[in-house]
This record gives sequence, structure tokens and C-alpha cells, in this order.
Amino acid sequence: METRIDEIANAIFRFSTFVPEIEAPAGLTFNQFLVLGDEPLLFHTGPRRLFPLVRDAVSRLMPVERLRWITFGHYEADECGSMNEWLAVAPRAEVAHGMTGCNVSLIDMADRTPRVLADGEIIDLGSRRVRYLDTPHVPHGWEAGLIFEETTDTLLCGDLFTQYGNGPALTEGDIVGPAIAAEDTACFSALNPGMGATIRRLAALTPRTLALMHGPSFAGDSPAALAALADDYDRRVRLAAQEVGL
Ligand SMILES: [Fe+2]
Ligand SMILES: [Fe+2]
Repeated sequence: METRIDEIANAIFRFSTFVPEIEAPAGLTFNQFLVLGDEPLLFHTGPRRLFPLVRDAVSRLMPVERLRWITFGHYEADECGSMNEWLAVAPRAEVAHGMTGCNVSLIDMADRTPRVLADGEIIDLGSRRVRYLDTPHVPHGWEAGLIFEETTDTLLCGDLFTQYGNGPALTEGDIVGPAIAAEDTACFSALNPGMGATIRRLAALTPRTLALMHGPSFAGDSPAALAALADDYDRRVRLAAQEVGL
């Protein structure tokens, strides 16, 4: 396995490792994002088994001990499995996440006390800022949350738009169709009545780039893609409600 590195927005780098065995023959990418700045931030650590690959990829861009912030969509191995390995190699690094993630898991599971972020709170990286957004249960996990980088209008959108395959680093092609197909296959989302509204709130940020954890980054009409994804989840929720007679 190898980890490729691409700059998907100004000084935002995507590390992508393709695992062909998942849903073979399509495979699945695992992507982490490094936001460079005075206080560099890593969004997703990757699972523990990928730590050597991701650490080496980061070290090609900056000394790993410079890492200041570690954050991720939700508490799962691919999102944060190697957070303690990162805390060990980067002495000034702090895990940052929402109140639910910190209180339910991270205060106990992280080797250093995490920073608790309120919905909408800013992390100041010095030359740039990122905004933390609570997205409970979207696409899964009570503690789910995402990051919006305000200089480049990049939404680091975690498991949203998950797709199989090993596409380009950056695309303007369709990401909604492949996401709908992956949802049909894996049923990875926790369908809930607030899902469409939560995703439309992300569309209202008018992101220019969407940084997918499992798939290419997207530089097309991001608000329209988010609106289409929200519509599809509303459709799924309506169908699920009808099936139980609601
Ligand atoms: Fe996940
Ligand atoms: Fe994931």
C-alpha cells in the first residue's frame, strides 16, 4: 500500500491510501487532510495500522512534531484510530472535538485532555481559521461533527459522499450518484429526520471544495451537490417511515 499526496486547495493536502480488498473489486480510499498554517491541523488520523504511512506522508510536508491540532468526524478507527500515536510524536498537539465526542469518548480515550469545541467554534490556526460544526448522527455517530476551513471555503466533510473506487484526487464530476450507490450497498448512514436539514446547513456555508474521506475531493458546484445529497436522504427517511406505517 502507498499513500499519495495531493494539494486539493491552497495549503490543504490530501493523503490518500487505497485499500483494494474493501468491497472488491472496487476498493475504498482512506483520506486524511493536513491544513497547513502556523498551527497545522490534521483532519482524520487514519487507523492505527496506517499510522506509519500517514506519518511518513505528513513528514514529507513538515516535521511531524509541528502538528498542533488533531480533529476528525467521529469516534471510529479510520477517523481517529491513531490519535494517541500522533499525540506521542507531536508534543504540542491537542485533540479537538465537540462536547459529545469529548464527554462520551475522548476524555477517556485520548492520552491528553482534548479541547472541547462548541458548535460553530473557531480554531485559530494563526494565518487561517477553521470552524467546527456539530452534525449529530450525520452520516453516523451521535458525536459527529465536521470542519470548515474559511480561507479556501473547504468543507472537510468526513464520511459524507462516501464512494467506492480509486478516483482522482480532485474532480468536478458527479459525486452524488456514486454516494447514493455506496449508501445503497453499505447502508452506512444513521437515517434520522434531521438529516436533510443538517446537510442543507452545510450547503448554506457555500463551500467551494468538498474534501471527502472516502472518495475524490470535489471542486464543482458544492452547495448543489450537498442539496442533492440532502434530498436523497430525505427520500430515504420518508421511505423508511412509510415502511413502518408512519
Ligand atoms: Fe465513519
Ligand atoms: Fe470514514
